[in-house]
Amino acid sequence: MPRIGLITSGGDCPGLNAAIRAVTRQLINKYDAEVIGIRNGFSGLVEGSFEPVSLYSVSGILPRGGTILGTSRIDPLADPRAIDDIKSHLDRYEIDAMVVIGDRDAIDVSHKLTKHGLNIVCIPATIDNDIAETGMCFGFSTAVKIATEAIDRLHSTADSHHRVMVVEVMGRETGWIATYAGLAGGADIILIPEIDTSIDEICSLITKRHARRSFSIVVVAEGANPVGVERLKARDEEISHQHGVGECVAREIEKRTEVETRIAVLGHIQRGGTPTSADRILATRLGVKAADFVVSGEYNVLVGLRDARVRSMSLDTVAGRVKKVDPDMYEIASVFFG
Ligand code: F6P
Repeated sequence: MPRIGLITSGGDCPGLNAAIRAVTRQLINKYDAEVIGIRNGFSGLVEGSFEPVSLYSVSGILPRGGTILGTSRIDPLADPRAIDDIKSHLDRYEIDAMVVIGDRDAIDVSHKLTKHGLNIVCIPATIDNDIAETGMCFGFSTAVKIATEAIDRLHSTADSHHRVMVVEVMGRETGWIATYAGLAGGADIILIPEIDTSIDEICSLITKRHARRSFSIVVVAEGANPVGVERLKARDEEISHQHGVGECVAREIEKRTEVETRIAVLGHIQRGGTPTSADRILATRLGVKAADFVVSGEYNVLVGLRDARVRSMSLDTVAGRVKKVDPDMYEIASVFFG
């Protein structure tokens, strides 16, 4: 009887519970396996914080946001001695292999753990949609829906007050959420890390637009870095991408164009609540296939969506890379700027 560990690691996202449910149901129903949940990301692996996951555990979790296992951003290999603890916990629980559901950091850590001999199958899960070699990650569709709804709402207040509304969205070092939600929400400008721009260009576009419309919506990815915008000093350089690009852009726009400007930072709202049906379906597809791969012994792979099909890809080709926004997609969104 296979005994499989299950972890969620990194930033949470809608769809994680759908994936947990799919892995568990397939492993138990099809392979009569035992599923051992590892709590709170890789910190649970180091501490030996394990709990059995049953069909009852996953009953009713499909539409729930977050992760019933808990997650963290702990790097288990930060302390090189931890690998011995990890291996002894896995031996004690007789765990043959693990399914790790998580973001880029989770995939990078999993890749390192495979070099220590652990058997792992990864499922990509992040609102950032930044996992190399994958077409789409679950979590992304829900974040885009939330951000689009926010942008839709901001149109009416910006129009009423004849203002510029700057909307800062998440995405770490990529602009996927900004590009998709900006396009879907009819943004007048979209600023992303992948495309160089300057505050001068931004302001001249706004000034030109305000000759015919009295308001503008500017969507800014948190990792964007337009030339001429002085970033606020981040509390902690580690999370500098979270600190204030929207605020800085808004301040510069108002100063230079003299148009009243306000800022809305969507932050963790984009990660909360129930997943869209698209995220539930993708999470379920990847979870079922990950269970098949881990039982068949196809380890050290990522199970991802590519060209609309679920495939396994070697962690060697995915780890350490970031999927940047497709320039063609941004090109389409830019048709509607101004
Ligand atoms: O990786 C997902 C994400 O939401 C990023 O878009 C964002 O920059 C980061 O996590 C926030 O991290 P935390 O939840 O640890 O504050």
